[in-house]
Amino acid sequence: MAHSLKGKSFLQISDFSREELEEILAQGEKLKLDHLSGKDEPLLKGKSIGVLFEKPSTRTRISFAVGIFELGAQALILDTSNLQLKRGETVADTARVLSRYLHAIVARVYAHKTLEELRDYGSVPVINALSDFTHPCQIMGDLLTIREKKNRLDGLKLAYLGDGNNVCHSLMFGGTKFGMHVAVATPEGYEPDEKVTELSKKFAEESGGAITLTHDPFEAVKDADVIYTDVWASMGEEAEHDERVKVMKPYQINDNLVDKARKDVIVMHCLPAHRGEEIVDSVIDGPHSVVWDQAENRLHIQKAILSLFV
Ligand code: CP
Ligand code: NVA
Repeated sequence: MAHSLKGKSFLQISDFSREELEEILAQGEKLKLDHLSGKDEPLLKGKSIGVLFEKPSTRTRISFAVGIFELGAQALILDTSNLQLKRGETVADTARVLSRYLHAIVARVYAHKTLEELRDYGSVPVINALSDFTHPCQIMGDLLTIREKKNRLDGLKLAYLGDGNNVCHSLMFGGTKFGMHVAVATPEGYEPDEKVTELSKKFAEESGGAITLTHDPFEAVKDADVIYTDVWASMGEEAEHDERVKVMKPYQINDNLVDKARKDVIVMHCLPAHRGEEIVDSVIDGPHSVVWDQAENRLHIQKAILSLFV
């Protein structure tokens, strides 16, 4: 199967079949085990991979750099503020040039369209390291974490609370591909993109999962196996922060809300967390939280994605 992904770009979970996504998860599990037993294989020996950032990053930046090194390749961390992009060279021309040097481009961008341009004008695989629309590497790592903790994905209920943003969109795609019930609770006006909802409903019909949207956080967390949240103001939305904090306060993950889920619920956050806003200290540092395992699994799943696509 691996050959079917070689040379493709990884922009959206929704572009791939459940079988292909399962292949990524299985490869992530294998590479994690190899790594933990000291047996990293140089699957990308001698290759050069650009990791491009229009926005800040801690986890993505470091986990890609380390993962690429562990695969025997070299990572070039490229901040767009230091490229000619900053002075007006087009994305298309940048893609054409980078494709002559690099074996793949990993990119974190504002507009999702920039990723599509990198893919369309370049000739090497492009990996989405977060756009304003989706964050697929995050969610593939999260699915790995959920499966490690719960031994399955099918039939689990995941409650996502807060802003219907990029992370929410990828969770809706990823969860419904794997037969989960993704229950999204947002304030009015902050619902996920309608196209994402429609597509996720279709995936849910195919997989036996479900998508429900509500404005009631308690309805979403009822019987949840997983509670997930993300920042209320994403990168680029800083000016809306104060307004969003007011509107989203009822969606905060606190002990009262966690008590309404299943007893063995796990609590997830892609990080960075704004403690005291979308999640409180006692929950993120408490017994249900798996956020550090989640952060670690970014490393393993991204190595899997690179090893299959590049
Ligand atoms: N979760 C995540 O992508 O973190 P960074 O913004 O630190 O990369
Ligand atoms: N939704 C957040 C995710 C950060 C990893 C953002 O886009 O800033």
